[in-house]
Amino acid sequence: MTHVWTAIKKVPFFRGLRDTEIMHVIKIAHSRRYKKNEMIFRKEDLGNSFFIVKEGKVKIFTSLGGDKKKTFAFLNRGDFFGEMSLLGGRVRSASAQAAEDTELYAISKRNFAKLIIKNPDFTLKLLHTLADRLTKADNEIASMLFHNILGRLAEGILELAKTKHSTPGRVAIDQSELAQYLGTTRVPVCRAINVLKREGTIDYRRGELIILNLARLKSMAGTIR
Ligand code: CMP
Repeated sequence: MTHVWTAIKKVPFFRGLRDTEIMHVIKIAHSRRYKKNEMIFRKEDLGNSFFIVKEGKVKIFTSLGGDKKKTFAFLNRGDFFGEMSLLGGRVRSASAQAAEDTELYAISKRNFAKLIIKNPDFTLKLLHTLADRLTKADNEIASMLFHNILGRLAEGILELAKTKHSTPGRVAIDQSELAQYLGTTRVPVCRAINVLKREGTIDYRRGELIILNLARLKSMAGTIR
């Protein structure tokens, strides 16, 4: 039990919760494992579970007709997803896929509703994350409306570099994934990367973006973070 408890305390989601609340979440959660690239659910599926990432990485994305995809987020250890359909929409607003071998805690719709009603720390955590996601979505809409591809790439690199699991100043991502994250195709992203490389703002080697000039990247993204 002590071993399980130590492992649970390492999952960031549980850090802000009281021990009694953690115990409760664990009691009602089921562990599920997914292999790299395995689908967890698809957009429009009926939502019946809430998930917390115990280990691994999950890609949240939507398909935009044909083979175009838009990646909304990569979720890591301690992040959660699957709450939106349970709170309102009924069906999944996006698809979720294991980006690495992944283990999740799954909580049923019924138990999720109980958690919200009975556990204020849990509910606050949920609301904070939803507010953060909305702010990020607003920024992305503004970026898509007002920025050219260079600005969007700069914004995207800064956003991806912010995740607590990436090495500071470095983002491991291949060009197709990056294009999906920016909601565009590979060719313009490849050109934009080359422009930033030539001017010494970033380097890109073996699937890893390296930030060389953070100030320049921020000014291109038009934000002070
Ligand atoms: P749900 O609609 O149940 O299923 C898809 C899930 O993806 C959704 O709940 C959210 O948990 C998650 N999701 C949707 N949009 C985003 C986003 N922009 N950033 C992070 N997660 C998201």
